[in-house]
Amino acid sequence: MLSSRISGFHKKSVQDRLEIIAEKTDLTKDEIKILKKYGSLDEKTADTMIENVISTFDIPLGIATNFTINDEEFFIPMATEESSVVAAASNAAKIARDCGGFYVNSLGPKMIAQIQLVNVKSPSQVKFKILNEKEYLLKKANDQDPILKKFGGGAEDLEVRVLETPLGYMVVTHLIVDTRDAMGANSVNTMAEVLAPEIEKITGGRVYLRILSNLADKRLVRAYTRIAPSAIGGEEVIEGILNAYTFASCDPYRAATHNKGIMNGISAVAIATGNDFRALEAGAHAYASTYGQYTSLTRWEKDTEGYLVGFLELPIAVGIIGGATAVHPVAKIALKILGAETGPKLAEVIGAVGLAQNLAAVRALATEGIQKGHMSLHAKNIAVMAGASETEVDEVADKMVEGNQVNMEKAKQILEEIRR
Ligand code: MEV
Repeated sequence: MLSSRISGFHKKSVQDRLEIIAEKTDLTKDEIKILKKYGSLDEKTADTMIENVISTFDIPLGIATNFTINDEEFFIPMATEESSVVAAASNAAKIARDCGGFYVNSLGPKMIAQIQLVNVKSPSQVKFKILNEKEYLLKKANDQDPILKKFGGGAEDLEVRVLETPLGYMVVTHLIVDTRDAMGANSVNTMAEVLAPEIEKITGGRVYLRILSNLADKRLVRAYTRIAPSAIGGEEVIEGILNAYTFASCDPYRAATHNKGIMNGISAVAIATGNDFRALEAGAHAYASTYGQYTSLTRWEKDTEGYLVGFLELPIAVGIIGGATAVHPVAKIALKILGAETGPKLAEVIGAVGLAQNLAAVRALATEGIQKGHMSLHAKNIAVMAGASETEVDEVADKMVEGNQVNMEKAKQILEEIRR
């Protein structure tokens, strides 16, 4: 019987780990060969990034073109396994660029760390006591990270929230830290841990959690675009887009998909640049629920001249230093291609990509539907899986799309016909 308990697995070499897993899960020689093949992320680097490494995992890196953001040109590196995402972003950016492109701004790289004080009897008194020591606590936090302070960042403010919970009052201190060019998770988590015993001393209470919040709503990015009716296919297309947006704004079932489309773009750039895309996903979806009901992260409107106006606002906590951005060789090159010299600039570019991705999705959904775009690449994948050679792939894929039947059986049938 297979047991997943392997003593000391983490201490073994990559090769030894692979051998153990191969033996236990009956991997073939060819499968092992695939796992032993490394790309630009080599075995040694991968082994320093996470635990229990046995190989690396490649996904395609594409470049979205046509982007102008705040009147500057950008090539956007996107790492994603989903077909159509890069093409859709490029298409939407092309539509937008003829009308001036995207405009962005942001609140700056301010991260929140939470310190949870529990079982509080007199929350107002405790809140006052903590705020009374604000300067002392900020200094303590900054002493922890003098480098951040030196570069103009550091702990800037303290806010205290009272929660009424089933376990009594909790008093939650928010430490607000300017993390400069870093995403900042490590800095703010360390600061929160340093402040925890101080807060216990000041209040006489008990702290449990000390951790950042991914609802980074002091780190908002806004992206904007204004599109002429002629650039997007006319007034009827704009009506369709407004109906698509309004659906998402009123219905959480639709909003989830609408926002997923936005995150297709945002997460792809985050992955390409070595940023924590789960943090962005968490922040985005939490921010979409700010007013109680989960809703669309974008807004689409028609202005007085009949132009389509798009607006996206969400937290984007990314950096250009530290973490995988610093060690993953492809992430470093992606940052160079993108040309974002600061963390906030990267965040703003990512905001524009999110808006472009949404524009592409609502435009396609309100007109021909998204399957047409999706299907041609999907059909190529199926054709390859059915055994089509390089010279056969396009013909098999085209025939499947034409016949509106994209599946393995059809691919095999077409392949047989061609070969006959
Ligand atoms: C697919 O990955 C994303 C879309 O479903 C987004 C949307 O529906 O708005 C096309």
